[in-house]
Amino acid sequence: MKDDPTVPPDARFETRAIHLGQDYRAETGAVIPPIYMTSTFETGNPGGFDYTRSGSPNFRNLQTTLASLENARHCTVFASGVSAITAVVFGLKAGDVILSEQNIYGCTYRLFERVLRKFDVHIKYANLANPANYSLIGQLKPALVWLESPTNPLLKILDLRAISDAAHAHGAAVVVDNTFASSALQQPLNLGADLSLLSTTKYTNGHSDCLGGAVCANTDEWQEKMIFAQKALGLQPSPFDTWLVSRGVKTEALRMERHSANALELARRLEARKGVRRVIYPFLPSHPQHELARKQMRSGSGMMLADFGHDFAGALAFIRRLRLFTQAESLGGIESLVCHPASMTHASVPKEVRESVGITDGLVRFSVGIEHFEDLWADIERALG
Ligand SMILES: Cc1ncc(COP(=O)(O)O)c(C=O)c1O
Repeated sequence: MKDDPTVPPDARFETRAIHLGQDYRAETGAVIPPIYMTSTFETGNPGGFDYTRSGSPNFRNLQTTLASLENARHCTVFASGVSAITAVVFGLKAGDVILSEQNIYGCTYRLFERVLRKFDVHIKYANLANPANYSLIGQLKPALVWLESPTNPLLKILDLRAISDAAHAHGAAVVVDNTFASSALQQPLNLGADLSLLSTTKYTNGHSDCLGGAVCANTDEWQEKMIFAQKALGLQPSPFDTWLVSRGVKTEALRMERHSANALELARRLEARKGVRRVIYPFLPSHPQHELARKQMRSGSGMMLADFGHDFAGALAFIRRLRLFTQAESLGGIESLVCHPASMTHASVPKEVRESVGITDGLVRFSVGIEHFEDLWADIERALG
């Protein structure tokens, strides 16, 4: 064992038990970085770390990777996608306006309505797939324009370049929740957005075994705000979860190829199947923004929606007949999941609001995994009877 000059040679057992074996930074030859399970760091360390709430080598590793994958100068990681959303919106002040796409993730809506409104931030919703509504940016002068593309759950595609141009003409910043697309298939900053936000819980990690979030930006100003939010609001992830996401992201491109291929084939077969009322998938020519999707995204990810003509109870009964598709919230893992937005992800959105944006009781949302396609198809055919 190498002598450690900081531990006196005559130190007692207790002292040695604590102070020896800390030499993990010596070149061990480890191919994968360790998990830095420490709450604090010795002052003056070469990495500039002080306390894990405001940074850790594991955060830094993942931030470097994600910034690079999103073609961003900066990235900050958070405990979850909702923590990342919190970090962005808590930079606003009373009186500020958010103009949001009307079809957004249910918990983003809940955060806007039940938390942000208490701080006197005004939120307006509009169908931003309709360019006629871009004029609202000039009228409302929002601080932020909030977008998802594809949206959750309806898979609407928004024109990120056109909306960013319109927003910048009026001094508004554009946030794109890139969770449904994934960094492998779409890079919002390349299309003019100011921030790309990820729930890394989904495709980034890809294995449904931890939660995480990230915000990517190009300006130092946004980066400072994100780092401040991470430590001031206590939104940091755990080093272990960050390490898991760093491991998961290594296979993102490969996983996305299979997710996209499986979802496209499922969408095609369901669209051709008698009795299926509607299939929504951005890379089907029947999708209203198909051409835009092809321009913005490399392929359509694993998210797909179908309406089999069931009512609320019928949709749930179909879901329960599936075996390989597990009924669960979440998406983006290697295993196929199925969800009933009206009673699950969007249950926090009032029924009349849900229906006004098109989230009807019969809609079934699939997160198509990377299993063999024919096994997935057989499961769906059997459940449809
Ligand atoms: C589009 C979108 N954004 C954000 C989130 C929130 O992410 P998390 O569950 O990691 O907090 C989700 C979760 O489903 C989502 O679908």
